[in-house]
Amino acid sequence: MPSWPVNQWYVAAYSEEIGDGLLGRTICGEPLVFYRTGEGEVVALADRCVHRRYPLSLSHLKDDQIVCGYHGFTYDKTGACVAAPAQKRIPRTARVPAWTVREQDSLVWVWIGDQELADEALIPRAPWLDSPNYTVVRGMEPLKARYSLLVDNLMDLSHETYLHGGYIGTPEVAETPITTEVDEDANVVYVSRHMDDAECPPFYSKSTGIDGRITRWQDVEYHAPCLYLLHSRIAPAGVLPPQEGPDDKAFHVEVTYGITPSTEHETLDFWMVSRDFALDDEEVTEFLATNNHTVVMQDVVALDLLEKVVEGEKENYQELSINIDTGALAARRILTKLVAQGEERTAAAKAVTAP
Ligand code: FES
Ligand SMILES: [Fe+2]
Repeated sequence: MPSWPVNQWYVAAYSEEIGDGLLGRTICGEPLVFYRTGEGEVVALADRCVHRRYPLSLSHLKDDQIVCGYHGFTYDKTGACVAAPAQKRIPRTARVPAWTVREQDSLVWVWIGDQELADEALIPRAPWLDSPNYTVVRGMEPLKARYSLLVDNLMDLSHETYLHGGYIGTPEVAETPITTEVDEDANVVYVSRHMDDAECPPFYSKSTGIDGRITRWQDVEYHAPCLYLLHSRIAPAGVLPPQEGPDDKAFHVEVTYGITPSTEHETLDFWMVSRDFALDDEEVTEFLATNNHTVVMQDVVALDLLEKVVEGEKENYQELSINIDTGALAARRILTKLVAQGEERTAAAKAVTAP
């Protein structure tokens, strides 16, 4: 049984990554090839030719069809083989699986599990990613670590003080208690940390121009399994949101992560930083892109290291958890539940379709 939940939507790519060519990406253990048709539709097929298994992502596209780079089997967007060399009759079994994909909020989502169960109403939203009221910087780092380590990392922001000191971490992040709420039905974990009078880390002082102390809010929403939202509010100390009307004395940053399992020991770490200020300021854009990339790489180094430790440890090793881990523990509980539910749904769907 895989460690990730099936019958779920996962972020496979940014919309802009799928253009003229073929993109190969392994999502939840499934090697997939993505491309965009002339009409703009995104297609996802299994990345393995039925003939001798050549990767279709290393082949080429012609008229919305993939021509295998080894012997030329040609596949249409449904995965059906429509041409093979030196013969007219194509075996009916010559087809690769096609996967359900949807684009929303500038992200390409793929449904992993039984394709007939895909329900696009279940895709969580991050509307600022393609809103004209925000400027977004983004990137993707492959991790050599299991996805649950990235979930742990993002649910506990107290690590900012230690791992990201000098960038986004200040003493207050580790010192301020958190509140945690769980919506069991929606599979969402909320973790909040409101700092009333905090040091302004360079990440925010340089981008907002605030000098002096700040009120800094971090409101996390983790939509298990794949989408993580950190609503960050930064304002000069003492400036709270008004009772009514827009909160326009504050700066807002939406930090978004797509946490996508690739294999049991690898994860795709999609990171995005959206801001509602200095929208056209290239210097701020460049600063946030570079700075956040550095922060992400600090996590990548730590998590790749942790994966080796976890892989090497004896079974039944007992971690010690404290208050700061409440959000991460809630996330783990939900993921365990979703893994079991996914397997049940798959089993139920198979029972219905069995002859
Ligand atoms: S492996 Fe693809 S055509 Fe032979
Ligand atoms: Fe981090």
